[in-house]
Amino acid sequence: MKRKLIIPLLLSALCLQSYAQVGKANRDLLQKADESLQFAARQYKLMAKHLPDTVLPKTTDAKTGKLATSNSRWWCSGFYPGVNWYLFEYTKDPAFKAEALKRQALVEKEKNNKGTHDLGFMMFCPFGNAYRITKDPAYKDVLLTSAASLSTRFNPTVGCIKSWDHGTWKFPVIIDNMMNLELLTWASKNGGGKKYAEIAKIHANTTMKNHFRPDYSSYHVIDYDPATGAVLQKKTHQGLADSSAWSRGQAWGLYGYTMMYRETKNKQYLAQAKHIADYILNNPHMPADMVPYWDYDAPNIPNAPRDASAAAVAASALLELSKYTDKATGNRYWGAAEKMLTSLCSPAYLAKEGENNDFILMHSTGSLPHNSEVDVPLTYADYYFVEALLRYKQWAK
Ligand code: GLY
Repeated sequence: MKRKLIIPLLLSALCLQSYAQVGKANRDLLQKADESLQFAARQYKLMAKHLPDTVLPKTTDAKTGKLATSNSRWWCSGFYPGVNWYLFEYTKDPAFKAEALKRQALVEKEKNNKGTHDLGFMMFCPFGNAYRITKDPAYKDVLLTSAASLSTRFNPTVGCIKSWDHGTWKFPVIIDNMMNLELLTWASKNGGGKKYAEIAKIHANTTMKNHFRPDYSSYHVIDYDPATGAVLQKKTHQGLADSSAWSRGQAWGLYGYTMMYRETKNKQYLAQAKHIADYILNNPHMPADMVPYWDYDAPNIPNAPRDASAAAVAASALLELSKYTDKATGNRYWGAAEKMLTSLCSPAYLAKEGENNDFILMHSTGSLPHNSEVDVPLTYADYYFVEALLRYKQWAK
């Protein structure tokens, strides 16, 4: 064999070998993952029993302590049917499929909603999983319609999808919006044409340019001039301050760029995801149990409220990111995700059966500056926790 061929072959063999080391199973955590998934299944059976027929679960009401629900327009409406699809996949129990179908039917009409950037969360979490698991073409149609609706919010001068229509902003874009791009990359790969992937790519590039500080922490909201694309303001909405690092925002960015690397194989997205991961994992305010405070710059640390949802999203992203890096880096990301999941699977965060209004995780924070959803269960914390546990079981060797 020619030397020209041998060297690349040797290099790829070395690469494969290093990938094979990442993802080493921790037997204790594998067992805890199964126990937690079985608990989640029992808990969500109770949720299905207690939840009124026409609504979706949201959180615990701060005043009454009772279950708070939403209609389909709330940005979190798709997470509950999404968790039911994951639990169906795990248990093969048709009751979860039936519950997923019943609740996603409530959400389906949002495919025509052009008033929010959250269609990725709302539609891809239920219908993306539904299509992945069943291959029923009806779900593909729902997703393609949703992608068309979402793409109407793209402004080519700004190079972004507009996040909100409310407030005094001109053209606000929040870091969370990176999560909605997967609906678009999926649509392009499933008959929607190239335009959706192009929008996702341009949005990710603009966000990479304007949303991040030199240390790779991110602003929450960038407000653009829709006529010129100029950056008008760099602000926060749910974080402590414009200059602070809101914890869930960092997790959305990490997950978003990891997903964009998977979808495009653009090395810039991989580098961005690694920078964000390193910002999170090297943060001096990351607590020992690796479940972040609601903002990395929160006052009154160590007594500040935690955000288990930020840990769940980050853990799921880190497990995936570990597969795309060299061995040492991958082991570091995998190990960090294991620590986060070990904490979330412990009684400090995992609810007791029949408590916590039938949600799985405790101690998330929605928006502390608005005194909204502080130290409560949140439906998306459950979604990304269950996703991370399934990823761990699938990828641990
Ligand atoms: N997308 C809103 C949030 O993360 O709270």
